[in-house]
Amino acid sequence: MSETIRLARPWLDAEELQEIAAVLATGYLTQGPKTVEFEQAVSGYLGVEHAVATTSATTALHLAMVALEVGPGDEVIVPSFTFPATVNVVIQQGAVPVLADIDLASFNLSTRSLAECITPRTKAVMAVHLFGLPASMPEILAVTREHGIPVVEDAACALGAWINDRPCGTFADMACFSFHPRKIVTTGEGGMLTTDHAEFGPRVRRLRQHGGERVDNRFTFVEPGFNYRMSDINAAMGVAQMRKLDRIVAERRRLAGVLGEAIRGHGLEGVRLPSEPPGYRHTFQSYVVLLAEGIDRDGVIRRMAERKVETTVGTYALHLEEYFRKLFGDVDLPNAALAWRQALTLPLYPGLTDADMRRVAEALAESLR
Ligand SMILES: Cc1ncc(COP(=O)(O)O)c(C=O)c1O
Repeated sequence: MSETIRLARPWLDAEELQEIAAVLATGYLTQGPKTVEFEQAVSGYLGVEHAVATTSATTALHLAMVALEVGPGDEVIVPSFTFPATVNVVIQQGAVPVLADIDLASFNLSTRSLAECITPRTKAVMAVHLFGLPASMPEILAVTREHGIPVVEDAACALGAWINDRPCGTFADMACFSFHPRKIVTTGEGGMLTTDHAEFGPRVRRLRQHGGERVDNRFTFVEPGFNYRMSDINAAMGVAQMRKLDRIVAERRRLAGVLGEAIRGHGLEGVRLPSEPPGYRHTFQSYVVLLAEGIDRDGVIRRMAERKVETTVGTYALHLEEYFRKLFGDVDLPNAALAWRQALTLPLYPGLTDADMRRVAEALAESLR
């Protein structure tokens, strides 16, 4: 009997163990030289001035909100179809998240919906590169620049995603990456904020560390900050993972090709495969298909599990979550609602074989019958 194909699994080997062992041997475990090395690996890859490692993408997104001084009376535009963290950090700051709709072909922020959401109170826009496909940054920035509104990229899934010759994480005022085990590279838990902005970079670095700046051998605390530091143990894993980044993304993209072809080979009706506009480079952090209305997506998840293939929903339509409705009332965002009901994430990661991809496609075909 074949083994269950898991939804996600990071690519870890002796390299990560060696890096972690070397950190343990130093006895220096909190944020230190390994974190700096990891930050330099990411900033070097992206070609950005500042890379600030944090405990997660959520805390990086929170720091971005604080740096932009988002607070009561402000609105921040966020696509409704995203992980709750993108919206929660706005609410934590006492601001109002204005949820925008998405384009179904990309699952990303609809530029038209974004333009409709802008008001004089709009303080910032969150552009999410969902599942690793870049949001349409040139169009989004054309709208926001007209109004002078800063943009934060939620690049949690998008390390290694590009639009033409530019990597995600370099388009907006700030960008936030995740190193959760389901992401492109992992540190167990972890995140990073990247920016070229001369003011935001040092400020975020300070906010990460209780709002303190080291002068000589003591801190001067200049504002109330947080402890959002990454430990050198986590950073050690990140350093080893960064050496594999290009191979991880290349293999994900290759497997996405194999899986797409296998699904097409079954001639399935009502399954829309992930898209990749010309010049866009998808990381396939998640391989997400959209099932036609009328197909019982949760039934498909159950039937695929019976065939030992682990799958899950795409992500959440936050305007439909109970707490959001209680706080901000009802909003009608039909594409986000449809994606919440009908999106399905299939397993895809380095370590799976072409035969595994064909097994996933076959299980999908059988589950739709
Ligand atoms: C789009 C998006 N933003 C933010 C996050 C939060 O990342 P983290 O778990 O590192 O806080 C996630 C995690 O799933 C995500 O998918």
